[in-house]
Amino acid sequence: MSAVVLGIETSCDETGIGLVRIDEAGTATLLANEVASSVDEHARFGGVVPEVASRAHLQAMVPAVRRAMRTAGVRPRDVDAVAVTAGPGLTGALLVGVAAAKAYATAWDVPLYGVNHLAAHVAVDTLQHGPLPPALALLVSGGHSSLLDVPDLAGPVTPLGATIDDAAGEAFDKVARLLGLPFPGGPHIDRVAREGDGAAIAFPRGLTGPRDAPFDFSFSGLKTAVARHVEALERAGAPVPVADVAASFQEAVVDVLTAKAVRAARERGMDTLLLGGGVAANSRLRELAQERCDAAGLRLRVPRPGLCTDNGAMVAALGAHLLVNGAEPSPLELPADSGLPV
Ligand code: KG4
Ligand code: ZN
Repeated sequence: MSAVVLGIETSCDETGIGLVRIDEAGTATLLANEVASSVDEHARFGGVVPEVASRAHLQAMVPAVRRAMRTAGVRPRDVDAVAVTAGPGLTGALLVGVAAAKAYATAWDVPLYGVNHLAAHVAVDTLQHGPLPPALALLVSGGHSSLLDVPDLAGPVTPLGATIDDAAGEAFDKVARLLGLPFPGGPHIDRVAREGDGAAIAFPRGLTGPRDAPFDFSFSGLKTAVARHVEALERAGAPVPVADVAASFQEAVVDVLTAKAVRAARERGMDTLLLGGGVAANSRLRELAQERCDAAGLRLRVPRPGLCTDNGAMVAALGAHLLVNGAEPSPLELPADSGLPV
């Protein structure tokens, strides 16, 4: 016996539709992962415009579901459950996904699972690396930077810390803008930084003092420091060494992220560290996390970049785990909750 779950993700600017098959032993297989992004429509604003994102989800939704079902060779009567991101995220964007999920679940007469976006970023790794042991998760994206203690995918998750200002991806995007790189800036900083020296400029590391919260993050001071550095060079008429600035900024971010994640894993007695979210696609973050996990005797799990950024497969994966673990489905009154706690 196996079950097929449709996953719908619309918390930000990607309309993600995923189909996952799960067997009784809990082994999940990816059948389809369609992502329609409205990122190009937001680029000229330098950030995601909620109204534009909601409209784009409404247009993309049904065609994306059809494409995913065709790719997977799945018919409506083969689907055993529908899972959807209920939050956190942009309210209008979430509403489109939640409304669509309710419609499909009702039409096909299958259970509905409203899931947490952050927990879904963790669950997606099972599609690539199999069942997940208890793990410490570092989730870093344009909307969140969190450390989570995840004993079991189908059970409660304990948040240990989060950003107190900008998310890590937001810092990447803002610094990229300062350096004249396109939006979203993370992948451009990653690319440009390969030509630079990460030790060229000693940018500050936020919240690393003895009296600071050990598992919280702060990136707005770092962003300001980069802005001041660039402005001072421009005032002096000196050229901005874009590659060195990008590499030094990136080093400051990934240094703090990996140090705190490894410390959290050791303190909580976890053997596994898992990275997720769009910023987990960063090549230097992956490299330094591997180095520090090796030194600390931890196993590192990082999904491939296409599964790190927002997608529907992650939602389907979590829904599938809830289904095989006999979790209670959500009521059809399920609300969208922009601030849904993990
Ligand atoms: O998870 P995601 O697709 O959407 C949110 O939930 O926010 O993450 C998007 C974020 C953006 O800020 C983007 O710049 C960043 O992830 N990102 C990266 C890289 N690829 C995407 N940041 C650093 N290096 C990358 N290679
Ligand atoms: Zn995300």
